[in-house]
Amino acid sequence: MTYQIGYLIGSLAKGSINRTLSKALIAVAPSDLAFTEIPIGDLPLYSWDYDADFPPEGRRFKEAIEASDGLLFVSPEYNRSIPGALKNAIDWGSRPWGQNSFARKPVGIIGASPGGIGTAVMQSSMRSVLSFLDAPQLNSPEAYITYRADDFGDDGTVANESTAGFLRHYMDEYCAFVQRVLAVTAPGHIGDSDPASTK
Ligand code: FNR
Repeated sequence: MTYQIGYLIGSLAKGSINRTLSKALIAVAPSDLAFTEIPIGDLPLYSWDYDADFPPEGRRFKEAIEASDGLLFVSPEYNRSIPGALKNAIDWGSRPWGQNSFARKPVGIIGASPGGIGTAVMQSSMRSVLSFLDAPQLNSPEAYITYRADDFGDDGTVANESTAGFLRHYMDEYCAFVQRVLAVTAPGHIGDSDPASTK
């Protein structure tokens, strides 16, 4: 059984270290997970004026969230919080009122920064927002990545074996978490994975 994971990069920067981190995470993830990026850079700034008639960018974004079995946020911390572009995207996905696309989606939150706290404050803010949006979150392990350029290759390779091992462990736990949540929220989905259970 393959689980479709939509991943969101919280940075719009071409040279984003979090984009590099996402490649490393995908490289070590269990083969049960298939990854598709859900871009956030083309979304206008959200206003509830759009609620009556969402533009194509907003519709596409919500459809991509809803088509995913799970979501993975890979984001920097900007000024001790969520980058504006990512918060804007989350606001789009949460609306119109009563049509919150994040409800019951299993999510992982991870991020890298050159500094020692490794996006911990951003992740705390994200947990608050995603709790309000009723998205179950992987609580453990937490993953605060201090980014050292020498450790990460552009192709997803990780030179530091300890870091590589931790990222592998994180993705193994994330995969198990997505399966656990879907077993409750979408049991038919899990049934498809086990031919013996098909009637
Ligand atoms: C930062 N940076 C940063 N780092 C951090 O650990 N905590 C913070 O609060 C901030 N604040 C912040 C604000 C703004 C506007 C910028 C541009 C940067 C540094 C940040 O971690 C670094 O630039 C990373 O490279 C950002 O990740 P991406 O965009 O490369 O993925």
